[in-house]
Amino acid sequence: MTSTSLPDSLIATLPGSSYTDPDLFAQEQERIFEAMWFCVARASDLPRPGAFRTVDVGRESLLVTRARDHSIRAYFNVCRHRGAKLCTEETGEVKRAFQCPYHAWTYDLNGKLVAAPNLTKMPDVGRTEYGLVGVHVREWLGYVWVCLAENPPSFEEDVIGAVVERLGDVRAIEAYGIDNLAVGKRIVYDVQANWKLIIENFMECYHCATIHPELTEVLPEFADGYAAQYYVGHGAEFGEEVKGFTVDGSEGLDRIPGVSEEQDRRYYAITVKPQVFINLVPDHVIFHRMYPVAVDRTVVECDWLYLPGVVESGKDVERSVELFHRVNQQDFDACERTQPGMSSRLYAKGGVLVPSEHHIGAFHAWVHERLGTRQPE
Ligand code: FES
Ligand SMILES: [Fe+2]
Repeated sequence: MTSTSLPDSLIATLPGSSYTDPDLFAQEQERIFEAMWFCVARASDLPRPGAFRTVDVGRESLLVTRARDHSIRAYFNVCRHRGAKLCTEETGEVKRAFQCPYHAWTYDLNGKLVAAPNLTKMPDVGRTEYGLVGVHVREWLGYVWVCLAENPPSFEEDVIGAVVERLGDVRAIEAYGIDNLAVGKRIVYDVQANWKLIIENFMECYHCATIHPELTEVLPEFADGYAAQYYVGHGAEFGEEVKGFTVDGSEGLDRIPGVSEEQDRRYYAITVKPQVFINLVPDHVIFHRMYPVAVDRTVVECDWLYLPGVVESGKDVERSVELFHRVNQQDFDACERTQPGMSSRLYAKGGVLVPSEHHIGAFHAWVHERLGTRQPE
């Protein structure tokens, strides 16, 4: 028996409080962002040993850097002495060590404690034992993924598996050689909306005809409201007159050589829970990372990746970038328009999903499962 009898066409969303309750957000931070693989940076953002970036994952600040052996390391950004935030800048570069601004405890790029005032008079202080504490790091698709859990879930299952589930085969994404592409453009969006609204929006295309005129012009099948993510392995085909994935359908950039005939002139979208969206088109890849900051605020960093030759030659990527930049703005505007409604008494029990959105129900079930909460009957 369902407590609210819905017609067969509709299934319930999460209740409004899922998008507004700070306690629930804290649980999501603990059980989702701090427990799963979380994409923190493009590896090329750390070009040399000592280059660093700080990033919040769940409730923790992390310091991500490149060690002397060129491997990427991620540490809790917390001094082992008395807990000061070690690095306060968002990005930067140190020569060989991180020095705490409080009492000058100093750690090398491997996290080892290498200097501190009077340290020689404390020979019993273990340099590794009191070094920075690292978290698990993986590199894939040219991005750095971290996991704060002591025993991380399988990267192969959770991250690579999400791509395989969507595309049917890992070779389908390998064809784009994403790790070798160059960042042609990066735009950071500060979105006043809960991260789940952004995922839900990305998963459906029921809104495409209403808010994405440029996108539906390029991908006419989107006008029907069925998202590219609805069918396994399906990529939305470019319109007949369309030359490239650009704001006006004009010619795009150099096609990525590995892209197959089957993948040519098609758009594929992939969601890697909890915070990554990947969009594949023949000449570029659009890669989103969400950084949930608060229950009603999410920073989204979006990279447009092209063949290195395209970026180096200074080719004009403007019309190419403009298409998805507009899509992003249109989507994030919609999410921001939705966020206030989440705290309306009208939405206390949530809203409804139409058939072309029913797959979002699986996302909601996943949220319940992660939080150990039960879906209302
Ligand atoms: S808190 Fe960092 S050196 Fe004291
Ligand atoms: Fe959209």
